Order: sequence, then structure tokens, then C-alpha cells
Amino acid sequence: MKARVDIVEVTPRDGLQDVKPWVDTATKMELIQRLVEAHATWIEVTAFVSPVLVPQMADAEDVMAQLPEGAAEWIGLIPNLRGYERARRVRTRHLTYVVSASPRHQQDNVRRPLSTSLQEFGQLAARQDGPALRGAISCAFGSPYAEEVIHPQTVAAIARQYRDYGAAEVVLADTVGAATPDVVRTIVAKVQDALGGLPVAVHFHDRLRQGRENVREALALGVRRFEAALAGLGGCPFAPQAPGNLNTIRLATWLDEWGYETGLDLFRLEATEKWLGQVLALLPQG
Ligand code: COA
Ligand code: ZN
Repeated sequence: MKARVDIVEVTPRDGLQDVKPWVDTATKMELIQRLVEAHATWIEVTAFVSPVLVPQMADAEDVMAQLPEGAAEWIGLIPNLRGYERARRVRTRHLTYVVSASPRHQQDNVRRPLSTSLQEFGQLAARQDGPALRGAISCAFGSPYAEEVIHPQTVAAIARQYRDYGAAEVVLADTVGAATPDVVRTIVAKVQDALGGLPVAVHFHDRLRQGRENVREALALGVRRFEAALAGLGGCPFAPQAPGNLNTIRLATWLDEWGYETGLDLFRLEATEKWLGQVLALLPQG
């Protein structure tokens, strides 16, 4: 039997978050439905973030409330306690909490220092009142800013704090596409050491066209969960020149080639990618 690798589909959240024309809720629901029909089992569907700063995610509650129960594992992204409370009210089962290993990106993205963000994670984790928590570390493989160096021990220390507070998983995000196979090996191994068995997922952005090698490296270290978006859409609005995500179809194809099972229906994903391209092209600009 083939070894299983989970692809966490992030098109509705990371893929759409920086799309300027408004994608209405019905279209987002159709996208999610199509992903389910392509057998996506983990889907990050929205973000409970500031609707002023990220207007595309302003309908987070509506999206979450309309999801068909049990059709997939639904994930919502949160930046703070306020986001947690919003997500709880609509019974979100899995939450991705974000901090950044880059001090500047941390400030630009969630507007407070890392220590404050982590303390708040500790507070909401202590409640243990429902959602499973995924601790994401943005810029884990490099900073967008030349003056900043991301030290592996910094990333490992954040990961350990997440674990100590009760995260179910740590997500290493390459927000700016800085990862190379060497960097992946160093960071992932260090984080795995710090976590002692808690699962690590990775979220690559493919700026350097090394996605394939980076995935291979992470797989060799035992990573079995990867995030990706259709058409390689996405990128953080609060990191300069953030490139798109790893392309879901490309990722699934590599995994298939290497003998892993993702369960995804590539024909349906291709049709959905095409449909999404048409939908986005037809939106009124400006
Ligand atoms: N959802 C909705 N509104 C929120 C919120 C949340 N999670 N957190 C704070 N707010 C509101 C506050 O209620 C307040 O509203 P008011 O002015 O009507 O009272 C306002 O936003 C400012 O609150 P403050 O705590 O000062 O937030 P901020 O302006 O410092 O912004 C974040 C902090 C975290 C909300 C914001 O930076 C953010 O949404 N970041 C996420 C960015 C993102 O999505 N990045 C890409 C994915 S990683
Ligand atoms: Zn991303």
C-alpha cells in the first residue's frame, strides 16, 4: 500500500486573501464544494482576521456557517483572541494561529510583538474548549528583509512554545519563498528535534522554483502534510513580493510520481483550477 500524504488545500484562504475584487460568498462556497468533490480532505476555508486589512476574508462567519458538516476537515486562520472568539462562535473545528519568525513581518502582519502573540496563544489554548490548534510560523525559512537572519533555534523555540501550550501540529510557512533544500533540512530537523514527535506540516511558496526539491527534502525527514493552492495562487499581503503558494496539482503529481497517495482527483482539480481562473478573470476590476 502506498504511504499517505495529506495535502491541506489553502486556495479559499491563502489563494484568495489578496485578490482585490470581491469574490462573493457563493463563489467561495462553490470553490470549496469543488475541492470536496476532488476529494480534498483538509481545507483551510477562511481567516478570522481584520476585515479592514483583509477585506476578502470579511465573510469568514458566513463561509464557515454554510459548510456541509463532515464533508472535509475545515480549518480557519486566526491572528489573535478576537479571531478565536469569532471562529468559536461558528464552531470551527481546526484553527491555524499565526506568528512570524521575522520580527518585522510579525509586526506588519499581526501588529504586535511575538511574545504577546505567543502569550495570547497560551491563553486561548488553555481554554481547551473545542478547536484543535495548529501553530503556524511564518517566515520560518527566511525573512523578506535583508537585515534579518532567521535562526533555526528561533524557529525551534517558537515551535516548542506552541507544543508546550498544547498545539496539535506546527506549520512551518515559507511566506516569502526563501526555502532551499539545505534550509529545509536544517529548519525542519531542528523543529522536529524540539517537538519530539508532534507533527510538522510545511507551507511552501515557490519563488525560487525549488518547490519540488524542497518537498522531497521535507518528505525524506518524515513530513507528511503539505499545504498548497490551485494555480499557485496566493501570498501574504503583508510581506513584500510574497510569491504564490505551491501549486496543488503540481504537488499532487510529484507525490504520485514518488509513490505517495494523496487521494486527490487530479482531473477534478484541473477542472476547478480552470473554472477558478475564469471566475477571477471575469470579476470587475477596481
Ligand atoms: N477579526 C476582526 N476584527 C478584529 C480582529 C479579528 N481577529 N482583531 C481585532 N479586530 C478589530 C478590533 O475589534 C478593532 O476594531 P474597532 O476599531 O472597531 O474596535 C480593530 O480591529 C483594531 O483592533 P487591534 O487589536 O488594535 O488590531 P490591529 O489593528 O492591531 O490589527 C490584527 C491586528 C491581528 C487584527 C490584524 O493585523 C490582522 O487581521 N492581521 C492578519 C493579517 C493576515 O490576514 N495576514 C495573512 C495571513 S497570515
Ligand atoms: Zn502562504
